[in-house]
Amino acid sequence: AQLAILAQLSGKKYFGTATDNSELTNTSYVAQLGNTLDFHQLTPANSMKWDATEPSRGTFTFNGGDAIVQQAESRGQLVRGHNCVWHNQLPDWVTAGNFDNATLLSIVQNHCGTLVGHYKGKIYIVLADSVLLCVVSWDVVNECLNDDGTFRQSVFFNTTGLAYIKTALRTARAADPKAKLYINDFNIEGSGAKSTALMNLVKELKSEGVPIDGIGVQSHLIVGEVPTTMRQNLQDFADLGVEVAITELDIRMNLPETPELLAQQEKDYQTVISACKAVRGCIGVTLWDWTDKFSWVPGTFAGQGAACPWDENFKRKPAYLGIVKGF
Ligand code: XIL
Repeated sequence: AQLAILAQLSGKKYFGTATDNSELTNTSYVAQLGNTLDFHQLTPANSMKWDATEPSRGTFTFNGGDAIVQQAESRGQLVRGHNCVWHNQLPDWVTAGNFDNATLLSIVQNHCGTLVGHYKGKIYIVLADSVLLCVVSWDVVNECLNDDGTFRQSVFFNTTGLAYIKTALRTARAADPKAKLYINDFNIEGSGAKSTALMNLVKELKSEGVPIDGIGVQSHLIVGEVPTTMRQNLQDFADLGVEVAITELDIRMNLPETPELLAQQEKDYQTVISACKAVRGCIGVTLWDWTDKFSWVPGTFAGQGAACPWDENFKRKPAYLGIVKGF
């Protein structure tokens, strides 16, 4: 029983993982990354972000992103593009530029159009005898909401209001009409003010004819704190008529890890996976890297870690079994 196989037997399109360019030099890591019994899909954790792809205005660099796409293609894996517009990991020229509304919208348009256009039609998977042209999904808009459901005060929102969101989505659609376009965020796993605000945003976009195909539910969770409303909330999202994907799953704990915490983590992974399994519109699950060795958690949340289903030595943890049980 391996993860991608189980996901597909449960009617999901893929099970996948984030990865990063510096990790591709570790041969044991790359061997498991390319194990298509577990992973049918990769997300670049950093190398398609704005600071990496347009470090100075109008100058695009795709080497990092291309390397991840090549790695995925070599194993027939899908790719989620991540991301077009986000308030973090922006180059200074965007944040400090003091652009007016029209200029910033044209900058967003040029960035999203060039980025999405670069990867258009690049990804394919081979199914049986036929080559299936396959579409990249894009996290077009990342983390545009605050936890209380108001819009995040970013350089984009402060200058353009919601126009940047609409411009980004319309531009991405034009650049790759087959790509599925997502809004992606955290703390929208359970119901609450932020999830309600996101549903209202999706309804507004749809009513205005702005292209929106999916909601990405990041799912950076804490052991013992998986929201009890997760399944219902994913269903509520899907009922809007969009895809739902678990895009950045990890479940962190206060270190040091203990057998009790690892057992609770197993249950928590199972809960998340079974929530996605139960919702037809939840189409896939992506881990935010599969091994504790390369997890972003210890570097971001002081004193926390051990968030992934494989440990630092690439050995499966109880959490792996939790995923298996969830499917
Ligand atoms: C994280 C990366 O994993 C880190 O390597 C980087 O230093 C910061 O960003 N939500 C997102 C991701 O959408 O892009 C973030 O990735 C994690 C939180």
